Amino acid sequence: MVKICCIGAGYVGGPTMAVIALKCPDIEVVVVDISKPRIEAWNSDTLPIYEPGLDDVVKQCRGKNLFFSTDVEKHVAEADIIFVSVNTPTKTRGLGAGKAADLTYWESAARMIADVSKSDKIVVEKSTVPVKTAEAIEKILTHNSKGINYQILSNPEFLAEGTAIEDLFKPDRVLIGGRETPEGRKAVQALKDVYAHWVPEDRILTTNLWSAELSKLAANAFLAQRISSVNAISALCEATGANVTEVAYAVGKDTRIGPKFLNASVGFGGSCFQKDILNLVYICECNGLPEVANYWKQVIKINDYQKSRFVNRVVSSMFNTVAGKKIAVLGFAFKKDTGDTRETPAIDVCKGLLGDKAQISIYDPQVTEDQIQRDLAMNKFDWDHPMHLQPTSPTAVKQVSCVWDAYEATKGAHGLCILTEWDEFKTLDYQKIFDNMQKPAFVFDGRNIVDPEKLREIGFIVYSIGKPLDAWLKDMPAVA
Ligand code: UDX
Ligand code: UDX
Ligand code: ADP
Repeated sequence: MVKICCIGAGYVGGPTMAVIALKCPDIEVVVVDISKPRIEAWNSDTLPIYEPGLDDVVKQCRGKNLFFSTDVEKHVAEADIIFVSVNTPTKTRGLGAGKAADLTYWESAARMIADVSKSDKIVVEKSTVPVKTAEAIEKILTHNSKGINYQILSNPEFLAEGTAIEDLFKPDRVLIGGRETPEGRKAVQALKDVYAHWVPEDRILTTNLWSAELSKLAANAFLAQRISSVNAISALCEATGANVTEVAYAVGKDTRIGPKFLNASVGFGGSCFQKDILNLVYICECNGLPEVANYWKQVIKINDYQKSRFVNRVVSSMFNTVAGKKIAVLGFAFKKDTGDTRETPAIDVCKGLLGDKAQISIYDPQVTEDQIQRDLAMNKFDWDHPMHLQPTSPTAVKQVSCVWDAYEATKGAHGLCILTEWDEFKTLDYQKIFDNMQKPAFVFDGRNIVDPEKLREIGFIVYSIGKPLDAWLKDMPAVA
């Protein structure tokens, strides 16, 4: 029986290994993590992450050929294939601070593998890392090899949160990069055999190590760039009276462009886009390519601009002050169908409103108050460290309250901001909400999920990203 061990039981490692276990009954999969609470949660009825369909997959295999354990060394020693899916934060100090990937956790995982291994191993990069990381890891392993053969593969994960299980069941492609030597090719084939249990052969792409590493950074940069492109156009739509939804639809009808990933929003979030682009920028700079670096930097600048533009709209339309005013925030996760808040635009929007002394009442169906308080207290880039290294009980931000109901959040509020596109926000009783708010009552839709005309009929003053502005908003211009 082939044995797989995955180091890191997070958003990538957990669901990916659960699906491998489900699709490959002849393989034993053990997911290990240094975080005891995380592993306990994976072994309980309440999994540590919310992902549609995940519970079902885990229930089917856990205890059969899928295991979660904190005994990292034992399972690494026994495995034939080791996936590494640990945190890769952005460095906050020293060389490359604010841009370069901090490979501390990756390096410590590699050294541990070298320490405990007694048989040949295939080591698979699963977390997104800068190009040439595989080479660095290879050096650590071979310099400590004690005669053991290590093959390094890059197998970047392309799943998106909220649709992780679907994406894993039917991936657009599986990408495997390896060394172009006989041993390298053998290792690639061994990993290919795992995926071939359910992924059609023509969807399994093999490349050299560096192409695989760079493809992941490039794919995320392209996706993020589409959002920044449509968001840049949304600002121009507001200025000219065009409607970004109509523009995006017309643009996306061109088959060369395609209709997906063109929704204007308050900004993209998530653990990957910003981090991977910063990484790409840093690699370009290190390789003497400042023009290329500046090109990609602009994607992040537009994203930051979009978030601050939104805050400015809120503040300027309320007579340039939100001090002491209750603002309801609906949605805190970085997208719907996840409880993940990493790099969510809601953090920057809330911080912006707090900077103007607003009182914020937040409701998100999947995010806990503790998580929200931690996010608002945390410094930029500090989120991406193993949970046990993050502050557990920060001093609560007093102007922020969290409630478990959208109606409660909006009661007595002057304005409401929609920051995540949860389906339930589309069907709220907005008449009831209006009746219980201060007047004039404002809606700021950062996800374009409500019908502005219907809300205007109720009496709201409505701002929707990239849509023609109310007379009220035209009279109160927001300068970003
Ligand atoms: C373009 C638009 O495609 C068309 O929809 C619009 O109406 C007019 O402008 P055109 O300029 O005729 O059409 O040709 P196009 O095929 O778009 O190519 C434009 C340039 O991009 C060419 O120099 C082409 O060589 C280059 N190109 C195109 C690339 O370098 N790489 C590509 O992948 C595609
Ligand atoms: C992304 C990539 O899609 C995935 O392939 C990669 O493996 C990891 O990074 P994820 O971050 O989970 O996945 O979610 P994604 O659906 O890409 O959304 C990222 C952000 O962009 C979210 O904040 C989302 O709301 C925003 N977004 C997405 C838009 O603002 N508009 C869109 O049209 C699409
Ligand atoms: P991703 O979204 O890439 O899956 P996460 O932060 O969700 O990232 O998961 C990474 C996991 O890796 C965390 O649960 C963390 O505790 C774990 N981890 C980090 N370093 C190590 C290590 N050296 N050994 C085992 N687990 C680790």
